[in-house]
Amino acid sequence: MPAKRSAFSSVDVVVWSGTGNTRRVAERFSEAARSRGASTRVLTPGTIGEQQPATRDLLGLLGPTHGFTTTWPVLKAALTLPGVRGTDAFVLVTRGGTRIAGKTFAGFEGTAGYLPAAVLALRGARIRGVGAVDMPLNWTVIVPSFDPPNVATIVERGDSQVDRFAASILDGGTAFKGLPQLMLGILILPLSLGYMLIARLLLAKMFFADERCTSCGTCEKNCPQQAVHLVGAVRRPYWTYRCQNCMRCMSNCPTDAIQGSQAWLLFYIWLVGLPVGALAAGALLDVLGVSDGAVAGVVQLASSYAWIVIAVWFAYGLLWLGLLVPGLRAVLARATLTRRYRRYRGPKARD
Ligand SMILES: Cc1cc2nc3c(=O)[nH]c(=O)nc-3n(C[C@H](O)[C@H](O)[C@H](O)COP(=O)(O)O)c2cc1C
Repeated sequence: MPAKRSAFSSVDVVVWSGTGNTRRVAERFSEAARSRGASTRVLTPGTIGEQQPATRDLLGLLGPTHGFTTTWPVLKAALTLPGVRGTDAFVLVTRGGTRIAGKTFAGFEGTAGYLPAAVLALRGARIRGVGAVDMPLNWTVIVPSFDPPNVATIVERGDSQVDRFAASILDGGTAFKGLPQLMLGILILPLSLGYMLIARLLLAKMFFADERCTSCGTCEKNCPQQAVHLVGAVRRPYWTYRCQNCMRCMSNCPTDAIQGSQAWLLFYIWLVGLPVGALAAGALLDVLGVSDGAVAGVVQLASSYAWIVIAVWFAYGLLWLGLLVPGLRAVLARATLTRRYRRYRGPKARD
């Protein structure tokens, strides 16, 4: 039976994707719209500004779930995308589906979908749907990837979730999924904020390249955040705080040279636990002659956060310099679990 005609004639799907899962979902949604007679484009947050059409009547914003919520680039897109007021819009996120003992389990998206949807709504969009699609868990700095047959099984299930969601929206209906997940996501929002503001920084600074790195620059070229730079005379990758832990570098490295150092993560956790920020805040408050109240609270928070940022930056510098010593690099590489982890070979992202 031919598909019904789309209720929208011009559909823009804006996607931010690490390893390609969300990109695949965006392209599948776009294909569904095209097969119903709509004109469609799949755009990244960086390119939409240059190509704004006057005719768009449906906007989709898509991204992965990180730390039970959305990512900074998707939140930024929700806040800054042009032409939002008065348009129909939907948000579709991917989450990490898993396979255990031959069964597929859903990921948990928390506030990943509804947070950017709320921002779009506040900017005047008419939200027609929010949904989540299970794609393979890609967090390979923490857990190894599933093998190809299990990846294929999860992707197949994800494809049918996209088709159902697309049918509801393109038929002119609405689709508000994941309300229980949203409720739980709100309850654990402090955890998600902790991930966005602190854990993300520590995790970004776990990455290093082992002795198999050929300085080919694939990680630098493909990073969706321009967070990886080949530096020094040795041209070895260095990860900046722009890194969102999307795993694209790790998943695309042609020699599987990119590792995450668990030892260094433990070092960061110890380091940021030192009361240096609190001591600095105390000294500053003494100078200012303030002892309590809102100002004191802000100074204490800012000082503790600054300590985290500076301490981790400095410790990562030590790691990077240590890696220049061949013996030490071999020890660090062998001490990491990721050296033994299967990389995620999902649908590769194309920005
Ligand atoms: C840093 C990080 C955090 C993640 N956090 C979650 C999470 O909280 N819940 C979840 O279901 N999946 C989580 N995932 C899995 C991804 O959301 C999922 O694999 C997604 O499809 C990746 O999409 P992408 O390839 O477009 O980046 C996480 C993945 C990474 C790398």
